[in-house]
Amino acid sequence: MEPRADAMQSPAIDESEATDELSIVRCPYCGMLPLPISALKSTAVRPLLLVVDDEAPVLKVVERLASKVGFEVVGCGSGTEAMRSLHARPADLAMVDLRMPDVNGLDLLRQIRAAVPGCEVILMTAFAAVDSAVEAIKLGAREYLTKPFDFDRLRQVLTDIRLELERRAQVVALEGEVAKQLEFCGMLGRSPAMQDVFSLIQRLAPHAKVVLIAGETGTGKELAARAFHQAGPRRGKPFVTINCSAVVDTLFESELFGHVRGAFTGAVESKAGLFEAAQGGTLFLDEIGELPLGVQAKLLRALENGEVQRVGSLQPKRVDVAVVAATNRDLRTEVAAGRFRGDLFYRLNVVEVVLPPLRERREDIPYLTAAIMGECARRMGKPLHGLTPAAERQLHGAQWEGNVRELKNVIERACMLADGNLLSERELAGAFGPAGHVSPARPSDLSVARVPHATAPLEEIERDHILDVLRQVKGNRMAAARVLGISRRALYRRLERHGLTEVAPPAAARRTS
Ligand SMILES: Nc1ncnc2c1ncn2[C@@H]1O[C@H](COP(=O)(O)OP(=O)(O)OP(=O)(O)O)[C@@H](O)[C@H]1O
Ligand SMILES: [Mg+2]
Repeated sequence: MEPRADAMQSPAIDESEATDELSIVRCPYCGMLPLPISALKSTAVRPLLLVVDDEAPVLKVVERLASKVGFEVVGCGSGTEAMRSLHARPADLAMVDLRMPDVNGLDLLRQIRAAVPGCEVILMTAFAAVDSAVEAIKLGAREYLTKPFDFDRLRQVLTDIRLELERRAQVVALEGEVAKQLEFCGMLGRSPAMQDVFSLIQRLAPHAKVVLIAGETGTGKELAARAFHQAGPRRGKPFVTINCSAVVDTLFESELFGHVRGAFTGAVESKAGLFEAAQGGTLFLDEIGELPLGVQAKLLRALENGEVQRVGSLQPKRVDVAVVAATNRDLRTEVAAGRFRGDLFYRLNVVEVVLPPLRERREDIPYLTAAIMGECARRMGKPLHGLTPAAERQLHGAQWEGNVRELKNVIERACMLADGNLLSERELAGAFGPAGHVSPARPSDLSVARVPHATAPLEEIERDHILDVLRQVKGNRMAAARVLGISRRALYRRLERHGLTEVAPPAAARRTS
């Protein structure tokens, strides 16, 4: 019998209790706004319930009761209609009749679980049978309800599920909220390792003039360099960046120290270098391992004397600049191999900040995920508010060779693919790609459509691209380096790393062969 409206209890979850936008806390050091996670409003969206039954009165009863409990309800009279609706809008919960003319409820349960892994399923039947109940539970059904309904039981089951969905969303929102409090100048991290990094940067920032930041790609070296600048007395002054792997060898000196008119062919005007541009502030030397040996000597002099000399000038200029250098190589090995000056290494290495890889601080993953998802949800206008448990496990267990950048890319891609309120392993599978890795591309390269191998690891893309360019320039390394916009040295290193030295032997070797 259908319950009378007045006999219904008030909804177990009152929509008016929905939390307001989470308050935004600025970083106490730099005043920066955190990655916005305020979009993670857990109760703003009603979970979606799909009811599938060929008997219209059943649809009606469930719809009335479930909407009181706080679900948005879509009713379907057949399996085909249900799957169409599910593809158009993934549900959080489905109630499926066991016997329908066009489909067996157990088959539909399988299809739903495959299509929307995060969707809970309740089987309903007028013919309670132990076998089908056991089979349903084995296939992942949440409950097995007999008709006519025991309304108290139905209400209880729906309320439990609603609360569980609510809790899942709140965990994500809460993690985002905690993440905000654990933020330091745009860097998130609750792990002891990251808290140590924040504390070290805070202590260094007021005093240090030279800092070396080490860490794998995507661990946040540039963010850490900026944090050092923001947290110290130089904030408000210039923060100037040079990526040493992207500068042609012959231009380094003039880039860093400037030149006077006529110093070399093409020097039609005098130009200040980056040291002068960063006067009073911070110069960030990214990928310092790529700096040619000759320039390393000049950099050492600048660091020791606090003076720079423009190319072609005899006049030294005093500069007051803090230098932050970053590397993802082990500079000690580079020094041992004669590729990096030992004296410069020791000058830079007065204080070393080491950013741990993400796989060694997995406790940061939920916080970073919550913040990134919140930002995507807001930007994409999607009501995303959590992850399915399986998706959480998948994120937790991944290798993350591209570290936070890779995590960001995976979540961003998964959010693009997501239709429902929760990210499930289905969207993550699309975002990870077949090898379980996504290219740790730069944020500006995120568009799936624009990335040629959207799911290939970065190393593979880099190797392919280098090979393509070498083919175009017929193996001429000088020309290839120019096309790639990196120094010849940087190209040599990459060729070595990718095992391509034989594919493109140096010019001299080519001549003799
Ligand atoms: N702790 C963190 N909190 C929030 N975002 C982070 C954190 N660490 C890194 N990121 C994000 O990950 C991306 C990569 O960070 P960043 O560019 O600083 O890494 P990197 O170590 O300099 O990498 P590479 O060696 O490839 O240059 C950026 O989008 C950055 O905002
Ligand atoms: Mg960097």
